[in-house]
Amino acid sequence: MITYCAKEQSFHLSTKNASYLFAIYKNAYPVHLYWGKRVYGQEALWSLEAAYRRFERLLSPEPDDDEFTLEYLPQEYPAYGTSDFRPSAYQVRDANGDRISDARYIGYEIIEGKPPVPGLPSCYAETDDDVQTLVIRLRDERLKLTICLYYSVMSEYDVIARHAEFCYDGAEPLYLENALSMSLDNQRGYHEMIQLCGTALREKHIEKRPLGNGITQIESLRGVSSHQQSPFCALVNRNTTEHSGDAWGISLVYSGNFILRADADMYKSIRLQVGIHPDTFSWKLSQGDSFHTPEALLAYSSDGLNGLSQRLHAIYMQRLARGLWKNKERPILLNTWEACYFDFDHNRIVELAHAAQKAGIELLVMDDGWFGHRDNAASSLGDWYENRRKLPRGIKGLAEDVNALGLKLGVWFEPEMVSPDSDLYRAHPDWCIHVEGTKRSTWRNQLVLDLSRADVCNYIIEQLTNVLSSANIEYVKWDNNRRITQAGSALLPADRKGELFHRYMLGLYRVLETVTQRFPHVLFENCASGGARFDPGMMHYFSQTWASDNTDAISRLKIQYGTSLQMPPLFITSHISASPNHQLERPSPLAFREHVCMPFNMGYELNLLALDDQELAQIAAQCDHYRRIRRLVQFGVFSRLTSPFEENACAWQIASNDGTEVLIWYYKPYAAPEEAYIRIYPVDLDPYASYMDQLTGKRVQGSMAMQLGLTIDWVNGDHFSQMWHLKKES
Ligand code: DGJ
Repeated sequence: MITYCAKEQSFHLSTKNASYLFAIYKNAYPVHLYWGKRVYGQEALWSLEAAYRRFERLLSPEPDDDEFTLEYLPQEYPAYGTSDFRPSAYQVRDANGDRISDARYIGYEIIEGKPPVPGLPSCYAETDDDVQTLVIRLRDERLKLTICLYYSVMSEYDVIARHAEFCYDGAEPLYLENALSMSLDNQRGYHEMIQLCGTALREKHIEKRPLGNGITQIESLRGVSSHQQSPFCALVNRNTTEHSGDAWGISLVYSGNFILRADADMYKSIRLQVGIHPDTFSWKLSQGDSFHTPEALLAYSSDGLNGLSQRLHAIYMQRLARGLWKNKERPILLNTWEACYFDFDHNRIVELAHAAQKAGIELLVMDDGWFGHRDNAASSLGDWYENRRKLPRGIKGLAEDVNALGLKLGVWFEPEMVSPDSDLYRAHPDWCIHVEGTKRSTWRNQLVLDLSRADVCNYIIEQLTNVLSSANIEYVKWDNNRRITQAGSALLPADRKGELFHRYMLGLYRVLETVTQRFPHVLFENCASGGARFDPGMMHYFSQTWASDNTDAISRLKIQYGTSLQMPPLFITSHISASPNHQLERPSPLAFREHVCMPFNMGYELNLLALDDQELAQIAAQCDHYRRIRRLVQFGVFSRLTSPFEENACAWQIASNDGTEVLIWYYKPYAAPEEAYIRIYPVDLDPYASYMDQLTGKRVQGSMAMQLGLTIDWVNGDHFSQMWHLKKES
């Protein structure tokens, strides 16, 4: 997987279908040569020289020569303050206040397997995986700084995981002011960047922009990876489609402030970078300290965007997710939020559980409002003990009654927050993020606890441990409903204040690691006002994520289509809610809502007690159907077929790993007059086989289905949807 050519000091990192090549230029600087479709062979420095010759007059060949310039060299991890004017990958501030650095190559090492990134979530290798890690060492002797660049080659997944480590052995403190996870300069060029953006209720919408001269950048400065942007992008050429062409994906395994940018220089050489956002970051290094950046995953596909998504889905599900739930089917749940908001008590929940049990629902989730004196969003975050008025027998008594009906019980928490009206805040007003003597802005009447502090993290661990060991709780919804403002910490000294945002993430990851390891049987669901922190970092700890608080079925098509670019259906929870919908007040048929949620991790978010017998019978039939196709839905291969961002329609399919079964869904949200004929073209069927649609008993030949398309059973009106369940016959 990793080969080294001593003659030109070049490295060839190869996965099943992709290659990544770089070399050490003049024994000093790692220069990027290639990342894309698999190539065979080793020596590639000639490709650099060909491009470089254009600048002969500007260049002197030796790095120590005064006329030497890095400006035109495609680099792997460029320093600030050299003759390269493009954005640097790292920057320091030394004891004199100077910021320049010139770290040069001192050696390499190849390790079998993949070391973890200390304190941070990262992908891992199983013992029989084909994984090797290359470590490139750079040294700035003047600064007494060594930089290790890690490249783990995850062959099976066509992914290279990169991160950097800074080790310091100087006497005076050195400050890291920027430390990105990866950088590379690609002279071959991509044309467009696809990003996932939006806001609450409109998460992960797909936007494509051309990469012109200058910087194309996405970022978050909100303390979470955010609704607004995601630490992910796909880079494509003009002719790339869902099904063909080159697609490169970059994702950061991190849940806090990030920057992701593509800087096209005057020759259209594109510098790609991702990492912690430098605007809200600095880190003090004392003698003997080291600092690890988060991990960046670089995935490549020559099979278009679906190929890229399938690689990301596979690596996230198999080598990022962990624990007992990793390969287990997720239960169908009923969440109380849209069923009753804060207005519930023991009896109401047991009544709901009763109706849920009759419908075949497997898990009852008690959402916000069970603790302290919380009857609305104004109080009690931080006081994680039951409200005895609502739950006279506590969660224990509730779990007993819910379990007696054959359902599991789940509970909502928002552990990172504190309400000013809470016992916790009255006892520890300095435990929230704040700057003494300045305003503490509230947002949904709450403040953010300072997770850069060990005592605060320990308190959260203790509170969660108490509640989770007090009753048979088998699911936790972990919410986060405000962003970080007035960023300051009562404990951090002046020269470490810039560490707050990253220390918050380290604290959060420690809490998550401890709690999820301590309660391995619990299914943990990630939520942040819907999808404000739906990123790979969180998926190291959480088995699923609430993609959006918008449960309107038509809106969900775009949200789920966009989210699927990066995340597998297994991770995306999707709830059938009431009609009219609570966010948009749009009515929709139950069958349409079912078709929208079924291809994902399906659940319910409505008051079953308000439904009539016919609707309850329909839900029971849905649950039964879902249970029969659940393994295929949750662990199959997902492909997008028709984009709701391009048409008044949406379609996707899920195929079993052996290709013998394929589920297909088509949606047409709005009726339209005299439209063109509609055909759905499934992909990856066996062209020589015949398939039987289990829902209609109709037969279709594989190549014909793919080439002639499937026709829809046309019905006029809004909210049209249709499903196929093809099973291979021969
Ligand atoms: C925001 C979440 O996204 C909702 O699902 C719900 O849990 C509320 N918070 C509760 O306050």
